[in-house]
Amino acid sequence: PRFSRILGTGSYLPEQRLTNAELAAQLARDGVETSDEWIVERTGIRARHFAAPDQTSSDLALPAARAALEAAGVAAEEIDLIIVATSTPDMVFPSTACLLQQKLGIAGCAAFDVQAVCSGFVYGLTVADAMIKSGAASKALVIGAETFSRILDFKDRTTCVLFGDGAGAVVLGASETPGILASQLHADGRHVDILCTPGTVSGGQVLGHPLLKMDGQAVFKLAVGVLEKVARAVLEKAGKTDADIDWLIPHQANIRIMQGTAKKLKLPLEKLVVTVDQHGNTSAASIPLALDAAVRSGQIKKGETVMLEGVGGGFTWGAVLLDL
Ligand code: ACO
Repeated sequence: PRFSRILGTGSYLPEQRLTNAELAAQLARDGVETSDEWIVERTGIRARHFAAPDQTSSDLALPAARAALEAAGVAAEEIDLIIVATSTPDMVFPSTACLLQQKLGIAGCAAFDVQAVCSGFVYGLTVADAMIKSGAASKALVIGAETFSRILDFKDRTTCVLFGDGAGAVVLGASETPGILASQLHADGRHVDILCTPGTVSGGQVLGHPLLKMDGQAVFKLAVGVLEKVARAVLEKAGKTDADIDWLIPHQANIRIMQGTAKKLKLPLEKLVVTVDQHGNTSAASIPLALDAAVRSGQIKKGETVMLEGVGGGFTWGAVLLDL
C-alpha cells in the first residue's frame, strides 16, 4: 500500500506586525472605534501581520515553501505537484500555484489553486493525499497563502480587526507507512451569504462588492457544530478516539470557537495549538502556520497524532487526522 506523510513544514509572516493598540490607533484616524480590550475578549487576537503593498500571496508562499523543502530535505526539482490554497490569489489567472512554481524555478510539474477559503488547507492536503495514494504524484508542496488585508473593509470594525496575512507550507511525500490517517471534506452552498467577498472582475471593471463581508454570529454558530461532527467522523474512519489526539490544530479564527471545539472533543486545552493571538485569522494559511510554529518550537514531536480542522466561507469545512 502507498500512503502519504508530511516530510517537512515551513511558514512565513510578512514583516509589518500590528498590535491591536496600533491597529486601533490607525482606525481611529478614520473615525472607526475599537480597542485592544474588545478584540482580545471577543477573539483572542492580540496582533497580526500585514503584507507590504507590493507583496502578493505568491511572494509570501515562496519563503514558506523554501522553509518546508529545507526541513524535508527535498530539492525543489523533486516536487511533482504544487497546490496553493488561497482566496486572495495574485491574479484572476494564472493560478498562484503557477506563479509560485516560476518563483521556485521549477517548470513542468502540476500546479493549481484550491479555493475553499479558510478550509483551503485541509482541502488541499486531502487532494494531495489522494493524488499521492493514487500514484499521480509522489512529492507535493501544499501551501496556504493569503493576503486578506487586500480585501478588508477598514471602515467595518466587525471584520477588519480579525484578519492577518501569511503563508504556511508542507511537503507531503509518498510513504510506506501512513502519515495521513483519514480526512473528510464538506460544503454547504446555502450559506454563501454569511461570509463572502462577492465582487468580480468583468468588462475591465470590478463589479459588485470587492471587500469581505461576514455575519460573525451566524458563522460562529455553524462553526462549532460542524467542527465537532467532522472531527468525530474522521476519528471513526481512522479507527481512533478522542483520546488518540495528541494535538488539535483548528483553523485559527477565534479562540472561543477553538476552545469550544476542544471541549466538545473532550480535549484538555493544553492539547490545543494556538497562534491566533499572534497571527489573527490568516484564512487558508492559519493551519499550516500553526503547524509549523508548533513543530519548530518542539511543541509537536515526530510520531504524534494531530487533528487539523478547517472551516470557512462557502460554507466549507473539513478535517485531516495525521501522524507526524
Ligand atoms: N470593536 C469594538 N466593538 C465592536 C467591534 C470592534 N472591532 N466589532 C463589533 N463591535 C461591537 C458591535 O457593534 C456590537 O455593538 P452593539 O452591541 O452596540 O451593537 C458589539 O460589539 C457586539 O457585536 P457582536 O457582533 O454581537 O459581537 P460578537 O460577540 O458576536 O463577536 C465576532 C463578533 C468576534 C466576529 C464573533 O461573532 C466571531 O468570532 N464570529 C466568528 C467569526 C469567525 O470565526 N470567522 C471566521 C471563520 S471563517 C473564516 O475564517 C473566513
